[in-house]
Amino acid sequence: MRKKIVAGNWKMNLNLQEGIALAKELNEALTADKPNCDVVICTPFIHLASVVPAVDASIIGVGAENCADKVSGAYTGEVSAAMVASTGAKYVILGHSERRAYYGETEAILKEKVQLALANGLTPIFCIGEVLEERQQGVQNEVVYKQLAGSLYDLSAEDFSKIILAYEPVWAIGTGLTATPEQAQEIHAYIRSTIAEKYGNEVAENTSILYGGSCKASNAKELFANADVDGGLIGGASLKAADFKGIIDAWKE
Ligand code: 13P
Repeated sequence: MRKKIVAGNWKMNLNLQEGIALAKELNEALTADKPNCDVVICTPFIHLASVVPAVDASIIGVGAENCADKVSGAYTGEVSAAMVASTGAKYVILGHSERRAYYGETEAILKEKVQLALANGLTPIFCIGEVLEERQQGVQNEVVYKQLAGSLYDLSAEDFSKIILAYEPVWAIGTGLTATPEQAQEIHAYIRSTIAEKYGNEVAENTSILYGGSCKASNAKELFANADVDGGLIGGASLKAADFKGIIDAWKE
């Protein structure tokens, strides 16, 4: 059975003290009322070493929002997968549309990052998704296929099985526009079908595919109710413990 997951992406929000306070508040809330799914919080690099010891690792996993595409050396300002892993973090978001759009991350660069993350024992949360014009042209399936094939489909089945996917339509991120449950289910099912074609049914059935884009407590339940939606990758609504817990609770009856 594939995992149900709710993951937060803090993006470039919260200073260190605010981040530690949020992690502790969430940890307390989830210790008192245990989640029915895996919970992950992905934080800015500098928060990782402080947030990891602030939470119970059996309840909350911690991840980075990015890592370098190089092993080590003269790459001023970069943070390697090995450095991320050395903080105790277990996850790393890769391929977020903001990194693709604003920082020029190509499929080839992301392929390097995925391999380094895996080599360092990190679980990549790999993001894919189309922009509004592509959705309007009806080419969203082709877009996500290219993103998957360009960065992931050279992996062995064993390595691919370690990856969590997040479908995030760019037009739904931070806009208040959410994919309808039908739109989410349709493309998640398509994504799973391409995985099955490439790696077989068992790998496809065991791959968690999260939805991201204006997911909040009020719409999480109807999104997660779909057969191929295995949870969410949450931006804005992960910045307050109560909002985030509301989404985690969507997995409860
Ligand atoms: P929002 O939940 O703020 O729309 O962001 C989604 C996202 O980009 C998560 O990675």
